[in-house]
Amino acid sequence: MASSSYCLSIHLLLFSVLISACSASHPARMLFLVKPKPIILKYHGGDLLKGNITVNLLWYGKFNPSEKSIIIDFLNSLSTNNSIPPPPSAAYWWNTTASYNIGQSKISVGSQISDQNYSIGKSLTDSDITSLASKLASPGPGKNLNSFHLVLTSTDVLVDGFCMSRCGVHGSGRVKRRHGHRLEFAYGWVGNPTIQCPGECAWPFHKPTVGPQTPPLTPPNGDVGVDGMVISLATILAGAVTNPFDKGYFQGSPSMPMEAVTACAGLFGSGAFPGYPGKLLVDKKTGASYNALGVKGRKYLIPAIWDPNTLKCKTLV
Ligand SMILES: *[C@@H]1O[C@H](CO)[C@@H](O)[C@H](O)[C@H]1NC(C)=O
Ligand SMILES: *[C@@H]1O[C@H](CO)[C@@H](O)[C@H](O)[C@H]1NC(C)=O
Ligand SMILES: *[C@@H]1O[C@H](CO)[C@@H](O)[C@H](O)[C@H]1NC(C)=O
Ligand SMILES: *[C@@H]1O[C@H](CO)[C@@H](O)[C@H](O)[C@H]1NC(C)=O
Repeated sequence: MASSSYCLSIHLLLFSVLISACSASHPARMLFLVKPKPIILKYHGGDLLKGNITVNLLWYGKFNPSEKSIIIDFLNSLSTNNSIPPPPSAAYWWNTTASYNIGQSKISVGSQISDQNYSIGKSLTDSDITSLASKLASPGPGKNLNSFHLVLTSTDVLVDGFCMSRCGVHGSGRVKRRHGHRLEFAYGWVGNPTIQCPGECAWPFHKPTVGPQTPPLTPPNGDVGVDGMVISLATILAGAVTNPFDKGYFQGSPSMPMEAVTACAGLFGSGAFPGYPGKLLVDKKTGASYNALGVKGRKYLIPAIWDPNTLKCKTLV
């Protein structure tokens, strides 16, 4: 029995960053990861996000300024105006996406909406998330390849499938515009797992719900839930840019794709294996574990990303 429960734990750890693709017209598709070898993410001929990509944010529920700044500084860390700093910069990690035929893309934070009063309640379905994301969509028809609409939910918001099978989602939605034009947009959602499931969605900053009970690591920004959200955000953002409309880079079926970062789930540093995040850097003052440097002296822990040049999962340390 020992070996089968170990298998179970591996699966649950991998599930912790599951991505499901959704659209306005299709129910969410749940993805279950297995890790076939070798990993080859094939290009399926569709559009990718590219150029100067604006990430618009909808804060759903209560987020304090410190929580918001961890996320915003992370997004601002992915691109620089000057040359890309060497590893372990977060921008060096993001530049791996440039090898997915999209050229260098630049992430910047666009508009932000705060919905502090839970305008559609504290229990959301997939289509609620899509419709919240559509509030961030710009007017005009076509397919928007230069923006990503991100919905972030606070600790007390229940979202279908959150914790059970996923910590975040990305997909695409459509809104109708005047004259029957339609706008297609890429969006994502990440929830704050602090109360609901830190063992699934804030590992390795919380001990895993099941599996080998490795001691939790100290989060680099002192916030188990939001440092966990950064891991999920890195996962869905890289997935969205390289596979925004289900015809980009992935392995497996379009409804169960293994994408840029889900291909490397649970790996953070060299020598990682399921249940062990790998060798990381440690902040001497705080004891926090991290593997990436960002703006304003920020430190982050971000997952490995599949590198099309080497066909391997790349870690910064
Ligand atoms: C991105 O924005 C910069 C200005 O901030 C501009 O110089 C550059 O041409 C833009 N790149 C693309 C691909 O639109
Ligand atoms: C890049 O330049 C723009 C405008 O010049 C500025 O708003 C932004 O903060 C800069 N980004 C970084 C990461 O320095
Ligand atoms: C960024 O990615 C591009 C495309 O793979 C590569 O040519 C370039 O050398 C990378 N930049 C750095 C600083 O690694
Ligand atoms: C949110 O609710 C509070 C208390 O019910 C109210 O005072 C405040 O005006 C509301 N804010 C918005 C933006 O609706």
